[in-house]
Amino acid sequence: MDLKYIGHSAFEIKLENNSIMIDPYVSHNEKYNWHDSNITDIFVTHAHSDHLGQAIEIAKEKDATITAIVELAQYLKEQGCKVRSVNFGAWINYDWGRVVFVPAYHSSSLPDGRYGGEAAGVIVDTQGVRIYHAGDTCLTSEMKTIKELYRPNIAMLPIGGNYTMDVEHAAVAAHWIGAQTVIPMHYNTFPEINADIEKFMALVQVNNSNCAILDPEKV
Ligand code: NI
Ligand code: MN
Repeated sequence: MDLKYIGHSAFEIKLENNSIMIDPYVSHNEKYNWHDSNITDIFVTHAHSDHLGQAIEIAKEKDATITAIVELAQYLKEQGCKVRSVNFGAWINYDWGRVVFVPAYHSSSLPDGRYGGEAAGVIVDTQGVRIYHAGDTCLTSEMKTIKELYRPNIAMLPIGGNYTMDVEHAAVAAHWIGAQTVIPMHYNTFPEINADIEKFMALVQVNNSNCAILDPEKV
């Protein structure tokens, strides 16, 4: 498995024969090239433009399926995408693994202003590794349930504040989730979400989690 951080909350996870993407807002990173990847599935946590990103364009070029919460999936279907419409609470199976959508405490509106459905996080279970991508969320006790039910190995957490958890709350989240590795995201993309990454690393290490800072420049 190869985990590529494209910046903001966008990731490509390269598996044996295919790739999956989460929140593919990739237009801000000129170094990232998705055209050569075999992207089969795209997961969008919620409808905000910094998460929906280039999902439609990528899905159409790659003939990939976008999995999203019902209201967002309906919108994407109207845009001509192949979709898988889901909601919280069940594992969804793919030929490379499985994914469950979990609650995020946030808002969600579609590009045309309509209600975008509930905001979500996703847990990807593949090749014996569980990756929790929290989407945009505040600190919520839901994360304690996530630890109890899913025991993720890797947690991708928003730390930029203003719209999501800040570094202090994200460090508490890391503790509650109990993942061995924490990957910070959703910071420094624009001024309102500038974050003190050194402080986050220090806070996370208090709880014996390993903090992996991934550099979008090395995508
Ligand atoms: Ni958002
Ligand atoms: Mn966001």
